[in-house]
Amino acid sequence: KEKLIDNAIQVLERNFQEGGFTIPSEGLYPFQWKWDSGFIALGFAHYDLKKAMGEIETLMDAQWENGFIPHIVFHNDSDSYFPGPDFHQSHLHPQASKKYRSTGMTQPPVTGFILERLLEISGESHEMLDFIAKHIDKVYHNHEYFYTHRDLEKNGLVYIYHNWESGTDNSPIWDDIWDTMDPPEYEFERRDTTHVDPAQRPSKREYDHYLYIIDIAKKYNYDDAKIAEHSPFLVLDPLFNAMLIRSNEALIKLYGRLGGNEDKISFLGEKQAQSIAGLNSKLFNEDLGAYVHFDLRNNKQLLYVCSSSFTPLYAGAPTQEQAKILVNTLMDKFGDEGRYLCASFDPTHERFNPRKYWRGPVWINLNWMLHHGLKRYGFTDLAQRVKNDSLELIDNNGFFEYFDSRKDNPDAEKNGYGGDNFSWSAALLIDFLK
Ligand code: DGY
Repeated sequence: KEKLIDNAIQVLERNFQEGGFTIPSEGLYPFQWKWDSGFIALGFAHYDLKKAMGEIETLMDAQWENGFIPHIVFHNDSDSYFPGPDFHQSHLHPQASKKYRSTGMTQPPVTGFILERLLEISGESHEMLDFIAKHIDKVYHNHEYFYTHRDLEKNGLVYIYHNWESGTDNSPIWDDIWDTMDPPEYEFERRDTTHVDPAQRPSKREYDHYLYIIDIAKKYNYDDAKIAEHSPFLVLDPLFNAMLIRSNEALIKLYGRLGGNEDKISFLGEKQAQSIAGLNSKLFNEDLGAYVHFDLRNNKQLLYVCSSSFTPLYAGAPTQEQAKILVNTLMDKFGDEGRYLCASFDPTHERFNPRKYWRGPVWINLNWMLHHGLKRYGFTDLAQRVKNDSLELIDNNGFFEYFDSRKDNPDAEKNGYGGDNFSWSAALLIDFLK
């Protein structure tokens, strides 16, 4: 155990950059990513509170005037990644950060619950409480941004306009949306496939779709209302909304702790109730026994089960009855003894691919949320299994980005895929073990 933690610390230290932030993985991801930073901060907090705070601070420093927080902050130049700042051109938005170049899309809003966990890990230290007092309004402003600009139907559910905003970049769920589009063939040089086996990454054609949506957003200067009107990709994602709900809960608790701020607590409380009701009415599918995605552009639920389907447990959104249904679905489709929990996409489905990025492999951050969600609803043994599986995968294979869910993988010497020395795998292992 101590050895594993030491190795995890080495991964984090090696990915820590002079500018005070941490890259997810050398070569493959050479900048700061939004939700990565949150999980990374939890790892640091167990042995270096300053670095944990720096991680959040450097991200918040790139917040836009309208409250938006970008999914990548380009602190530095790098020719090992595509598409970089020259493609994204987020400065087209009049309120974009003047200080940093960034993307014009976001990622799941994890920062609220990360601050709550940081306070816990620090043993409720004064230093951390002061840090939170200094930064909490920025997170609040970010939530306000979501409810003001991304909640189209005013039902508490916020949309994403790009698959990269979901965090689950090439999920098979998006295939249905790609079927409705016919983007031009872009000429560009992929960089990710120079670092990782192309069999484990999205296809060239998928990248055409990704780039095309960005071009549409650029055409409208990243204006939210215009994007909502014109983006072919407009989705209510259960993971994204669950993170917002869990972070609302954390902000309410932290504001309560800090004192004052009644108006903010009441705004968050009102939104929280709406979001939970919206999630349960619009994104829960009785027949599948799971939360699903909703395609706003084509006005229909997307009928697939993936690891995101279970994240509302972590947010405390389902009723106890719904939680039981979710656990049955989880066991039925993902929980076979021959598999590690939790595959990122339904292993019984024909679109499942055990090696390809978000089309099947196990991801440690999803497992971390699943573990805490199951614990929250009293499924202690299953929560323990998710934790053990996570630790075993890392112990057997190293700190990879994602892992094969099959215990009898025919390609047995290789169960770890994507980037090696991946920061959040290391950080969350530390948080699991401490
Ligand atoms: C990538 O480049 O694959 C990143 O995940 C985008 O956020």
